[in-house]
Amino acid sequence: MMTKILEVNDLNKKFGRFQALTNVSFSLNEGEVFGFLGPNGAGKSTAIRIILGLLRPSSGEITILGKDATKKIVKTHQNLAYVPGDVYLWPNLTGGEIIELLLKMGGHPRTKRVDELIQLFELDPRKKARTYSKGNRQKVALIAALSMDVALYIFDEPTSGLDPLQERHFQNEVLKLKAAGKTVLLSSHILSEVEKMVDRVAIIRKGQIVETGSLADMRKHAALYVHAKVQDSTVFEKFDQFKQDGDEISFTVTREQLPVVTGQLTLQGVSDLMVTPPTLEDLFMQYYDAKEGADEE
Ligand SMILES: Nc1ncnc2c1ncn2[C@@H]1O[C@H](COP(=O)(O)OP(=O)(O)OP(=O)(O)O)[C@@H](O)[C@H]1O
Ligand SMILES: [Mg+2]
Repeated sequence: MMTKILEVNDLNKKFGRFQALTNVSFSLNEGEVFGFLGPNGAGKSTAIRIILGLLRPSSGEITILGKDATKKIVKTHQNLAYVPGDVYLWPNLTGGEIIELLLKMGGHPRTKRVDELIQLFELDPRKKARTYSKGNRQKVALIAALSMDVALYIFDEPTSGLDPLQERHFQNEVLKLKAAGKTVLLSSHILSEVEKMVDRVAIIRKGQIVETGSLADMRKHAALYVHAKVQDSTVFEKFDQFKQDGDEISFTVTREQLPVVTGQLTLQGVSDLMVTPPTLEDLFMQYYDAKEGADEE
């Protein structure tokens, strides 16, 4: 049986009359890197703050390592490392001092791992935090979190301030955590940013989970692009995203429609044919662009 490290069950959150989260449920198995994806304002940080006990849910349950996370918060936090999206640091302390403080506050020892990570991320730990750029502030929090030996790591848009090289370092560190059997929750609004690390993802949109699963499964259900040259295009005009340029046509179909469509293409004298799976970006846009609900303001 797979051990559940984090379970989020039917979470609802209202800010006044605004419903920020609606029946949000997902869970993380031990040793899994889970991507929590969605556009700006979807509710990722709100859900994460509730998981961490920083915000109270309107209703719903959070279980971390089998325990109700709304009680015994201190105990739970000892097994958890968190890096927020906007890292706040004590302006008059140096990066190095802050890393030590963060470790001490969580009851974690300062190991040589801290020095390795400072080197890896090329942070100057002697500078006062108020002089740090956004990326450097993020590095301070990441170095502290990555040097903690905990069961669950939660990163809220961890690489938004990092350059591509540092982003790659971060990805490698997450993959190392995974190899060591740790569990990681990673939020992002860009699928390609987390693609190399994640086992499964949940996509959240307007406070609701619209899809959960592995990327492979999601690809299977996504539309395929068909490009073809045909003599008569009439029967294909009904398909989604139909476009025509002379005898060249393109449109999208589901995997289930494909056998029928290839039959029709043959009947219409197809002379050129290309069927391509969606790129990661296409896949994601299909969810982001999903039909606007009646709740649209
Ligand atoms: N304290 C609050 N009071 C009122 N509304 C809030 C509060 N915190 C968040 N919200 C609203 O809840 C919604 C979800 O916000 P949240 O920060 O969780 O989104 P997000 O998915 O993290 O977005 P981003 O990708 O921009 O970080 C937004 O509409 C936001 O304005
Ligand atoms: Mg956020």
